[in-house]
Amino acid sequence: MAGLAVNVDHIATIRQARGVDYPDPAAAAVLVELAGADGVVAHLRGDRRHINDDDVRKIKKIVRSRFILEMAATDKMADIALEVVPDLVTLVPENPREVTTEGGLNLATAMADVTRVTERLQGNGIRVSLFIDPDSEQIRRVRDTGAAVIEIHTGAFCEAPDVKGKTAQFAKIREAVKTAYNLGLGINAGHGLCYHTIKWFTGLREIDEFSIGHSIIARAALVGLDRAVRDMRRLIREL
Ligand code: PXP
Repeated sequence: MAGLAVNVDHIATIRQARGVDYPDPAAAAVLVELAGADGVVAHLRGDRRHINDDDVRKIKKIVRSRFILEMAATDKMADIALEVVPDLVTLVPENPREVTTEGGLNLATAMADVTRVTERLQGNGIRVSLFIDPDSEQIRRVRDTGAAVIEIHTGAFCEAPDVKGKTAQFAKIREAVKTAYNLGLGINAGHGLCYHTIKWFTGLREIDEFSIGHSIIARAALVGLDRAVRDMRRLIREL
C-alpha cells in the first residue's frame, strides 16, 4: 500500500497572511500524523514565504513518522538539512516568481548542483529524492546524481482540463514509473493531486508514497484536518 505524506506549507501560508504566529505547522504535523499520515512534508523556500527555519526544526522534533524536507539544491539549504536531519530531502527547482513549484528539475542544466548536494546529504546518511517531470530521459539522468529516490511531478496530469488530456498525461506517468522502477529507484509522486485525481493511480503499485498538500489543507478548512487526512488516506488505501 502506498503511503501518504502530507505537506503542511499552507498552514504556514495562513499564518503569513496575517503576519501572526498561528496556526503552527508543527501543531498541524501532529494532527496529520494522528489522522494516519505516514509522513509530514515542508518546503523551506529561499524566500521563506511560508515555512521558516524555526518551523523546520520544530516539525523535525515533533514528528514521529517521517519528516520530508523539500528544498532547492543549494549549499545553504544543504547546511540546514545537515543540521535538521530530515528522513528524506526532496530537491526541487525554485523560482521566486512562481506561485508554487512549476516543474521538475532539469538535470541537463542542474546536474552539477543536484549531484553535489545529493552527495553531501547522502554521504551523511540523509536519503535524497529528486522532483522530476514524467520524462524518461530526465529519469535516466537521475542515476548519474546518485539520488536513491524520485518524486514524479504529477502537476501536468492534474492540470489537464479534460479526460482526453488527463489520459495522455497519465500515460507519461505510467511510463516514468516503469523507467524509474527498472532503474531501481524509489518512487514517490506528487503536486496538484486531489481527492479526484488520486483515483487514477489505482493499480500503479510501484509508487511508494504520495506527497499531497494544497487539496488536503483546503478540505481541512471546511471539514477539519483530521477528516481531510483520513479521507485521503482511505482513497490511497483503496488504490
Ligand atoms: N511535491 C512537491 C515536490 C512540491 O513542491 C509540492 C508543493 O510544495 C507538492 C508535492 C505538493 O503539492 P500540492 O500542494 O499541490 O499537493
